[in-house]
Amino acid sequence: MHDQWAAVDAYLSGLFPSDAVLDAILQASRDAGMPQINVSPVQGRLLHVLALACHARNILEIGTLAGYSAVWMARALPADGRLISLEANPKHANVARASLARAGLADRVEVRLGMALDMLPQLAAEGAGPFDLVFIDADKENLTTYFDWSVRLTRPGGLIVVDNVIRGGEVLNASSADASLQGVRRFNESLAADPRVTATILQTVGSKGYDGLAIAVVRAGNRDPRTEG
Ligand code: SAH
Ligand code: DHB
Ligand code: MG
Repeated sequence: MHDQWAAVDAYLSGLFPSDAVLDAILQASRDAGMPQINVSPVQGRLLHVLALACHARNILEIGTLAGYSAVWMARALPADGRLISLEANPKHANVARASLARAGLADRVEVRLGMALDMLPQLAAEGAGPFDLVFIDADKENLTTYFDWSVRLTRPGGLIVVDNVIRGGEVLNASSADASLQGVRRFNESLAADPRVTATILQTVGSKGYDGLAIAVVRAGNRDPRTEG
């Protein structure tokens, strides 16, 4: 099946104009020996479409890697819009900064180096946001915590997108010893019960195999009566 998913994915991305900037980012990422786990072209395009749909002026990303998804989202920003992307790996952050500068997006995109668990409370403390769109795509162990901060930092009506929530169907394996998988399972359950958002969870297939995305809209008055009284 994977061959066909990948072939259809190539067909779909081939329908759209080719893009030298995005190609260069993937080339720089390969040259640097980084993991090739960026979103696929049609997934990047989905992020771009969602950013346009919510008129995003302020975007937060958790997990920059080479800056591929960041470029897709940042291109939806108006000239005075901003994207902050959080990245724990200094090599990844440097490669991404160089690529974003070459893409002409250095004025709109800031890559912040550090652990997301530390930087999300810092963003809240400095009054960053509110964000119109958040893309969560870092480690999976802490997904629920990242999502919780993201809800606090997002305006009512804003969107939160979470990558890798199906993991080849492994998400059904309740007794998995894999901490990432358990993080995804905890996240999906808490998302479905979260009164602060209206959400869905979608399975996807394509060049990255079988996985999925969660998409949530933050509701008005998004305080959580379970924890905030
Ligand atoms: N969003 C990117 C892919 C991100 S891959 C794209 O689609 O183009 C996941 C990234 O998250 C990696 O670069 C990894 O270094 C980073 N990461 C992992 N754990 C992290 C953490 N705790 N805080 C911040 N970044 C983290
Ligand atoms: C992995 C991480 C991702 O964010 C992704 O989209 C695909 C794979 C991984 O850690 O294997
Ligand atoms: Mg991912």
